[in-house]
Amino acid sequence: MSELPTTFDEWVENFGEWQTRVGFDPAWIGDFELSIKFDWERAGEQIEFGDYKGRKKWERSLQIPHQNIRDGLLSMITVQGDTEFASVEQQKHLLETAPTDYDRYAAARIMAEEQRHGWQMCYLLMTYFGQQGAREAQKLLERNAQEGSRLLGAFNRPMPHWLDFFCYTMFVDRDGKYQLGMLSTSSFKPLAASMGPMLKEESFHLGTGANGLRRIIKAGVIPLDMLQRYFNKWVSTAHDLFGTDTSTSAEWAYVWGIKGRWDERKKLEEGLEVIKENLNEESRGHYHDEIAAEVEKMNGLLPEGAAPLYVAHENFNREIGSCAGGRYTVEGHAFEGDDAEWEEYLHQMMPRAQDEEDLKKYFEEEWIEFRAPTRMMIESGIGQIKA
Ligand SMILES: [Fe+2]
Ligand SMILES: [Fe+2]
Repeated sequence: MSELPTTFDEWVENFGEWQTRVGFDPAWIGDFELSIKFDWERAGEQIEFGDYKGRKKWERSLQIPHQNIRDGLLSMITVQGDTEFASVEQQKHLLETAPTDYDRYAAARIMAEEQRHGWQMCYLLMTYFGQQGAREAQKLLERNAQEGSRLLGAFNRPMPHWLDFFCYTMFVDRDGKYQLGMLSTSSFKPLAASMGPMLKEESFHLGTGANGLRRIIKAGVIPLDMLQRYFNKWVSTAHDLFGTDTSTSAEWAYVWGIKGRWDERKKLEEGLEVIKENLNEESRGHYHDEIAAEVEKMNGLLPEGAAPLYVAHENFNREIGSCAGGRYTVEGHAFEGDDAEWEEYLHQMMPRAQDEEDLKKYFEEEWIEFRAPTRMMIESGIGQIKA
């Protein structure tokens, strides 16, 4: 374990050791610059909601009125940072097996950007949260997805292949978009100001997922029922990421103004009343509607007569929330049947060992529509692809 960093530069040195330890070659970043970016204008001047509404946003930690709020912010920034580094640990081995140079570029760029997001969160921890912040920034380099020690379940799941990668960027990175969006109106100005540039980068990740899945459908090699099972796996995981139902920490975060609702500014403008006990369900609902619409668009690509792809109900296969561990169908109904029938149902709905075997075969075919990298992508050196 490295020593506790006292400055951000010292932390950056430890970050270099993390890259080596997890096997991420810094050359894969090409000309991408790991840097700290703020959009101060978009962050706003005044606290936008909660008990401190109308006061000036906090720019330094001494201005934060209570230790509880400071702790709440610290933990939120830590969790966000944890997901950024975790996803690199989950994905980096995929570069070796990229289906095309374009995909190799896209995955390497996503990983470069996730590292920048992790930098950004650690910069906040190192700059504004004293020794406690330094300790958390250091721990972000020490937990590891491959050891299962990252803070959230989805970020410890192995991602053995590219079908998982496209589902993950489609469904899990899209959860990230919602989390960043909800932090973008934060009363802590440096956090709010961090979100604009991160959201911009995140949109490339979602696009990579959605496009990849469309290209898979167009290639017509991977059977649609199998594709659906991988959707089910990652959709239920992503549903979990919105947290427990009736969460008191989400409620406090709102009262303190540190994390808003999805589209908070629009909702305030429209005078949409906040139901503080239901914040996680509310954002999960928006997310669910968005992915359902995205998958519906994909259905336009299916061959005639094919059963449409769908997004499983929020009740299905949950590990967090009021339906956790319960037996619900992909339509959201309570499952009727005995243990053996439930096992059989899961066998139909979730990826099975045989799928993993079959995929190895499919991956040797033209399983995804070809896409060539642009000259700009090649020249960036990202993913180290050659012209
Ligand atoms: Fe990210
Ligand atoms: Fe991302």
